[in-house]
Amino acid sequence: MEERVLSSEAIVNDLSFEQSLRPQTLSQYIGQDEVKKNLAVFIEAAKLRKETLDHVLLYGPPGLGKTTLAVVIANEMGVNVRTTSGPAIERPGDLAAILTSLEPGEVLFIDEIHRLPRAIEEVLYPAMEDYCLDIVIGKGPESRSVRLDLPPFTLVGATTRAGSVSAPLRDRFGVLSRLEYYTEDQLTNIIHRTAEILETAIEGQGAIEIARRSRGTPRIANRLLRRVRDFAQVRGDGVITRQLADQALELLQVDRLGLDNIDHKLLKGMIEKFRGGPVGLNTIAASIGEEAMTIEDVYEPYLLQIGFLQRTPRGRMVTELVYEHFHLEVPEK
Ligand code: ADE
Repeated sequence: MEERVLSSEAIVNDLSFEQSLRPQTLSQYIGQDEVKKNLAVFIEAAKLRKETLDHVLLYGPPGLGKTTLAVVIANEMGVNVRTTSGPAIERPGDLAAILTSLEPGEVLFIDEIHRLPRAIEEVLYPAMEDYCLDIVIGKGPESRSVRLDLPPFTLVGATTRAGSVSAPLRDRFGVLSRLEYYTEDQLTNIIHRTAEILETAIEGQGAIEIARRSRGTPRIANRLLRRVRDFAQVRGDGVITRQLADQALELLQVDRLGLDNIDHKLLKGMIEKFRGGPVGLNTIAASIGEEAMTIEDVYEPYLLQIGFLQRTPRGRMVTELVYEHFHLEVPEK
């Protein structure tokens, strides 16, 4: 085993400002009703049996509340949560250090779990299944394998790409939950809740205007709320009205559907350079100077959701809705 076995450097300190806005319990958590309903049952059952909650895999587009849910799960179970991420764990020893330092029943949250190297994933299998760790001590013919018992724990994994989680890892989760985009009503409620925490005055129509342009994503809703609040304080009287939200979002270059300048660059680039497609993801990425992975994980899911993009075997295509959105003539087939 590597020297860093006792370091917990891969633990990410996550007590940010953002964290303080987040709901702490299932009852405070707005939206994802199906996921919440199921989790509430599993949590109550585990508590009744005085058992550790089964491992949970949360998947879905970024910003929908996977990290928040991990914290909520830990709070509901009455235990601490330790947070790390796939790319932060570089060697098997990093993971071993984290696992051996857990208290019984704790939640270990691994964000971007699809980015765990395969060799490290293999350390997780016996840890998840039997709460133990197989470690090799020494090198060459002198080496021997020792089995270490671990405290029981709940692994909460999060990923934006369920398809990139290997089957053996996926199969070891007892609960698989897919997070969905939020409705305008749910986002409006989240914006009111956050505004209250921030002690910001907001009118109903102001909240709706921000919700409408938040792409179904609470992280975006809360970010836009903070920016609009800046405008309200500097340019207005501190109250977020519909008109003020509208003006501020215009200045922030967030359009009526919540699309920003990167979405615009992507969609207009496809129309102007590739006649709307079909065109391959890497070609689009290179033509607008963005990373293919960022487009695929961050921008594309919402554009697919609102029917602006289509995936075909020959590449991505824009739909007629995009031409209409930009007031462009729809080309002849
Ligand atoms: N803030 C961010 N996401 C939230 C959610 N799902 N519910 C309540 N507040 C939130």
